[in-house]
Amino acid sequence: MKRIAVLTSGGDAPGMNAAIRAVVRTGADAGLEVFGVRRGYRGLIDGDIGYLSRRDVGGLMHLGGTFLGSARSEEFFSTEGRQRGIGNLRTLGIEALVVIGGNGSQAGAHALCEMGYPVVGVASTIDNDLVGSDTTIGVDSAINVALEAIDRLKVTAESHRRAFLVEVMGRKCGFVALMAGIAGGAEVVVIPERELPPEEVARQLREAAELGKTHALVVVAEGAKNNAEALIEHFEQHPESTGFTLRATILGHVQRGASPTASDRMLATRLGEGAVRALLRGEHCVLTGISGNRVVTTPLSEVVGKTKGVDLRLFELAGIMAR
Ligand code: F6P
Repeated sequence: MKRIAVLTSGGDAPGMNAAIRAVVRTGADAGLEVFGVRRGYRGLIDGDIGYLSRRDVGGLMHLGGTFLGSARSEEFFSTEGRQRGIGNLRTLGIEALVVIGGNGSQAGAHALCEMGYPVVGVASTIDNDLVGSDTTIGVDSAINVALEAIDRLKVTAESHRRAFLVEVMGRKCGFVALMAGIAGGAEVVVIPERELPPEEVARQLREAAELGKTHALVVVAEGAKNNAEALIEHFEQHPESTGFTLRATILGHVQRGASPTASDRMLATRLGEGAVRALLRGEHCVLTGISGNRVVTTPLSEVVGKTKGVDLRLFELAGIMAR
């Protein structure tokens, strides 16, 4: 093997640049030429591919986002689109591809493998919902952004004896909400894995007021049925039910824009290296992830179409800490 390529796909995640850097420098160290595909699968179809030297990936590690760009491509869902992508790689003599991304991106990687093209994935998403990795590149940074916002909101909440609803990202997974909720000292955590009706959220807030708390925090996962919008709508109809006046903040994409934490930079560097080592060993169609602090690979066929659950003991812990 002489030439490989790397792309980032789906939602950007802090640490993606460090992962690209690790792929390029590990590849160069092993005597490979590494190419970067710009704008994810969209760029693969368009042939937007260029050589990356060790120096091209310098000075980027502290930056969030992905300097290669990312995109969601409808065309890639068609066999013709993927054939064009594979054709573009083969024209340049590129023999394998590293795909850095989350669930949708790894489904794309799996589809390429099924067509006979060698691909290795790297687990990267702020949602931390990928099977095959205890944690994914970007989630630690996203939680820390949520936490910074929560800490600030608690200051103003206390001054006004208010309760704040903070909605965080995570798609259908409550991991970010649960971690930010525990680390931020939330009175209530609402996640898709343990839906709470608005009446129960209200009861827990009342309980907090009765316990003498001067402010309260509800961390809500965007994927919960009762997300911030649904809860606010309910509490507008029942303004007296919580014991506090309420305000809501939806953090949204602000969580994706952080400078990666040390932990995300380390994870990205280890997984980027691991992906290239897997290719050098002749392993294809696997996801590179971390398990018990070791870099591991899992067949993409066992990863795609699934969502990793959250540890519900931590949900119980959040409840105990709230009293
Ligand atoms: O998968 C990462 C993520 O940030 C999710 O948490 C969120 O639901 C989604 O992407 C938002 O997607 P987009 O960037 O396309 O709006």
